[in-house]
Amino acid sequence: MSNAPIGVFDSGVGGISVLNELRRTLPHEDFIYYADSGYCPYGGRPQSEILARASTITEFLLAQHAKLIVVACNTATIAAVEYLRATYPTPFIGMEPAIKPAIAQTRSGVIGVLATGAALAGERFHRLLAQHSAGHVRIITQPCPGLVEQVEAGDLDGPATSALVEHYTRPVVAAGADTLVLGCTHYPFLRPVIGAVVGPEIHLLDTGAAVARQTRRVLEREGLLTSAKTAGSVAWHTSGDPAQLTMIVELLAHDQRDG
Ligand code: DGL
Repeated sequence: MSNAPIGVFDSGVGGISVLNELRRTLPHEDFIYYADSGYCPYGGRPQSEILARASTITEFLLAQHAKLIVVACNTATIAAVEYLRATYPTPFIGMEPAIKPAIAQTRSGVIGVLATGAALAGERFHRLLAQHSAGHVRIITQPCPGLVEQVEAGDLDGPATSALVEHYTRPVVAAGADTLVLGCTHYPFLRPVIGAVVGPEIHLLDTGAAVARQTRRVLEREGLLTSAKTAGSVAWHTSGDPAQLTMIVELLAHDQRDG
């Protein structure tokens, strides 16, 4: 079992930002990545549809003998991770917007959370907000429809992408935010354009590296770390266009070798 692959899924290619961190942290593990690009974006869908997709993909990954599943999507985690944990025996690692670290590091006392509409509407997200809203930090939430589609198309820094980023970040920065939480796994690929739009003094936070460390801790705890000593592999699957996935993998996926 410990030499079985780790399943990773997202509504599309955004979870590759998490996969890159996983491969850096766990270079000997094999991965199966499932991009649900045929149903992307999740951000405008009801929670029940997202939950149904998450279950279908989980069953696919379990049929491939996944030993652990990383839900590399904030929106799917918010809609489905509790159900998945209650329904399937495999360990699940979920994503959570980096609100806690943002609160710890803001100096202006205002943080912005950029995420999908469905993520910001989810009950789990509201619980997270309630948990952290007792202090003096103001949390501004900003849905960003359209950004996921730009990343899916491989347009990371063209004029349309830049204009959308400007449109969504300007009011948040104008309200005094000095820290922006990238609460969707597609957004780390937009770091250069977001940084260029908001300027270097605004901190951008995502949770890919923390999720990779948590995955390693859970594998250790469960005795599921691979015994392999050679570089692991990735098997790619999509519900969308395979040629588009191949193009995006070339653009976004990092092949982490030993050392
Ligand atoms: N990458 C996803 C997330 O982390 C979802 C994007 C979408 O499909 O709307 O939220």
